[in-house]
Amino acid sequence: MKNISVLASGNGTNLQAILDAIESGRIRGARLVLVISDNKEAFALERAKKHGIPAIHIDPKNYASREDFDREAVARLREAGTDLVVLAGFMRVVTPYFVRSFPRRIMNIHPALLPCFPGAHAVEDALEYGVKVAGCTVHFVDEGVDTGPIILQEALPVREDDTPETLRERIHVLEHRLYPRAISLWLQNKITILGRRCLIDE
Ligand code: GRF
Repeated sequence: MKNISVLASGNGTNLQAILDAIESGRIRGARLVLVISDNKEAFALERAKKHGIPAIHIDPKNYASREDFDREAVARLREAGTDLVVLAGFMRVVTPYFVRSFPRRIMNIHPALLPCFPGAHAVEDALEYGVKVAGCTVHFVDEGVDTGPIILQEALPVREDDTPETLRERIHVLEHRLYPRAISLWLQNKITILGRRCLIDE
C-alpha cells in the first residue's frame, strides 16, 4: 500500500477526482494520507476533512523564504510516510529542496499541452494565442516551472465561442480522468523515465 499526499491551493476538484477514484477502486494500492494547502480558505481542505483525511494549512506568512516553507511541507509529508506527492492546483513554485526531497515522486497537472503555455495563466494564454487545440498534461516535477517529463496528455478542440471559463471547464473534465490514470500507472510501476521521456507500459 502506497501513501499519497496532495498539495492544493484552491477548489480541489482534482483532489476530489483522486479521492473518488480511490474510493471506487479505479486507483488501487494507495491511500490518501495528507492534504496540505498554503491557503486557509482552500475548499480542498474541506473536501479532505469530509473524507476523514488529515488536512493542514501551512501559512506562507510564517516563513522567511520559499525554502523555509518547503522545509516545513517536506517535514509534514515525511511524517505522514508519503510515497507520492501530487500537486493539484498548488499555486506555489516548489524549490529545488522540495524536488530533491522526493526525486521523481512528485506529479503535477497543468491545464495546457506542455511545453506550450507553462505558468499560472495557461488557459488564458492559449486562448489569446489562438490555438485550435488545447488540453492538459500530467508530468513529473523537476526544478523548472512545468518542465518535467510528461506522463500523459489529452487534447480537446477549442470552440469559436470559448471563453477562459468555458475552456477551463472542459479541460477540467479531462483532468479528472487523466490524473487518476497517471497515478494508477505509477502505482502499478508502469512508468519508466528515460531522459525526458516517460515510457508507459499499458
Ligand atoms: C487545474 O486546472 C490544474 O490543471 C491547475 O490548477 C487547476 C486546479 O483545479 N494546476 P482544482 O483546484 O483541482 O479544481
